This record gives sequence, C-alpha cells and structure tokens, in this order.
Amino acid sequence: MPNPLPVPPVLHDRGVIARYRKYLPVTDATPVVSLNEGSTPLIHATKLSALVGGGRQVFVKYEGLNPTCSFKDRGMTLAISKAAEEGAKAVICASTGNTSASAAAYAVRAGMRCLVLLPAGKISMGKLAQAVVYGADIVAIDGNFDDALDLVREIGSRDGFAVVNSINPFRIEGQKTASFEIVDELGDAPAVHCLPVGNAGNITAYWKGYKEYHAEAKSTLLPKMWGAQAEGSAPIVRGEVVKSPDTVATAIRIGNPASWDGANEALASSDGHIRALSDEAILTAQAWLAANEGIFVEPASAASIGCLMAAVDEGMVEKLPEGVNIVCTVTGHGLKDIDTAMHHAGGGKVLEAKATAESVLNVLGMAH
Ligand SMILES: Cc1ncc(COP(=O)(O)O)c(C=O)c1O
Repeated sequence: MPNPLPVPPVLHDRGVIARYRKYLPVTDATPVVSLNEGSTPLIHATKLSALVGGGRQVFVKYEGLNPTCSFKDRGMTLAISKAAEEGAKAVICASTGNTSASAAAYAVRAGMRCLVLLPAGKISMGKLAQAVVYGADIVAIDGNFDDALDLVREIGSRDGFAVVNSINPFRIEGQKTASFEIVDELGDAPAVHCLPVGNAGNITAYWKGYKEYHAEAKSTLLPKMWGAQAEGSAPIVRGEVVKSPDTVATAIRIGNPASWDGANEALASSDGHIRALSDEAILTAQAWLAANEGIFVEPASAASIGCLMAAVDEGMVEKLPEGVNIVCTVTGHGLKDIDTAMHHAGGGKVLEAKATAESVLNVLGMAH
C-alpha cells in the first residue's frame, strides 16, 4: 500500500484544545478527541445595535455553528479527551438534547460507548435524531432532567464510566474558551455579556474564561453577566428549586441547576443580573433574530436576545456608557427544533401556485 499523504498540520490546530492548550488541564498524555470545534462567528448585529442605541455595538456569538450545532462541543472535547486519558470505556449523561448529541459524537471519535438518559417526550426530534444517528444507547426516563441527572450521578460512579454532564469540571474548562475567542476578536471583553441559563454551566464557564484572560492582562474589562431563564423554569431568579419546570425552550427546562453556585458567583462578582422571560418573549426574540439579522437559533438560545431586549425596555441598557460592546451568545442552531419554529412562524407561510410565472406572480400580489 502506498504511504498515505501527511495530514496538513493546520488541520490539527483548529479545535479548542489545540488553540487554547495553555489555559486547559491537558498534558502530552491527553489524547485529544476533537471535531475542530470552536472558532464560531462573532457576528456584528446591526439591527440589534440600532435597537440598543447610544452607539453601543451588539455582537452575536453563534455557537450553533459548532460540529454538533451547539456550544456543548467546546466542553465535550475536553471531557471526552480526559475520559480517554483516564481509561473510561463508556460515557454517560443526562440531557435536554444538546449534551447527548455532543457526547454521542465525541464518544464515537474516542471509540467509547455513550449512554444517554432523557426526560421522556421533552426533547426536540432534531436533537434526538443526532444521538440516534451517532449510535448512542438512549433511555427515555419517566421523569424530568433533574431526575435524569440524579440517576447519572448514581450509575456514573461505577468503574469504567465517565459522567460528561457539566458537573464534570472539564466541561466548564472547555466552555470557557468561548470567552477567549470573544476577547481575541474584539480586542477586549465586552461591557455586558447576555446568556441563556439552564443548568448554569455556561454562565459559570464564560465568567471563568473572562476572569482568566483579565488576570493575564489580555483584557482590561470584565463584563457584567446578564442571564435569562424561562419563566416556568426560573429557580435562580426565584431563589428556590422549581419542582416541575416547564417552558417551550426545552434546553433550559431545568428546575435545580447543577452549577447554581457558579451562576451566583458570576452574577455577584460581575455586578450582573438574571431575569425570567415568558415563552412568548423567547419565541418573539427567536423570530426577530431570524427575520432581522438572518440568524436562526433554537428557542433557548434566543433567551439571550430576549434578555437584551427586556433590558432595553426597562432602561437598563441606557444606563451603560455609550459606545460600549455587548455580546449575546446564541447557544444552539435553529434546525435543532423545527417544530417549535414552524409553529410559531405561523405554520411557515407557504403559498401555492400553478407552475406558471403568471400564477406565481399573482399569488405574490406582483402581477400587473
Ligand atoms: C441550546 C442551549 N442553550 C442554553 C443551555 C443552558 O446552558 P447551561 O445549562 O450551561 O446553563 C443549554 C443547555 O442544555 C442549551 O442546550
């Protein structure tokens, strides 16, 4: 057999471990399991910037453009690489959908079995399809996400298993790289960072990333962290566990966040703020972002946009200095949950016509 062509070195340099190795708990003994995650676009949102006013510029960090279409891949590359280093044969997670899609993909690359526990009937078909196609072992339990996570803690303590939910500290380490990318691109941290909050791993991770870069003088600012939960699943806003969380934004349908303390720390130390948004406000933000900025995200992701819009309405944004930068992370791709999107967009207005130019122009009201 002829010798294979060498893989160009640049192709090994694209994932978050390769790019931010110095800031991550890896060594030469860590086998890097990667799908070239990260390097997602930071998009200047011109209409949102105009809405916010005062010359303040809004940027959308589009995490739906990761390999499995959500931010989870940043943490999963690290969690699965470390699991491989420790000799795990299988990974286990509880999931509202995105964690399972990501875990399943990275487990394939590591040659590990992936066991997924889902709340029955409460995840979108797009996310379920990902875990199915990647070949995960999927068990739908008769309980919610919080029940599934309790089971994962129990089963995952057995030999040979690695738990890859965000209670695994390597997940947080990997996810913090999104803050690094933002500072690298903007030249400094933004004044405000808006995020959806479910299990609160991501807000914990972003804050950690911003603090680490600041400590290294890579940025002069630390942003205020502004979080948004869904009204029916807002334990942090209410200050108490929500027994039966409910929201159309299934990815943040969580009543007892695992990283609650991390979120509290980020909110307190950054002089931040957390609010609850109605499902209506979340879906309106989702539709607005697609129709005005050309960015299609899943409902939970739109909570960061809804958060900023609510802050504008309440006059919170006006109190920020003029000309500052604001970043909103949109955590997952819109194609993950098309049923909700089509339903809210009025059933996806599709007009019907005969196969003639005249008929097409007629239904469009463009015939003369
Ligand atoms: C699309 C999406 N957005 C937001 C979140 C919330 O992130 P966290 O649980 O880290 O708060 C999740 C978590 O599953 C998610 O999948």
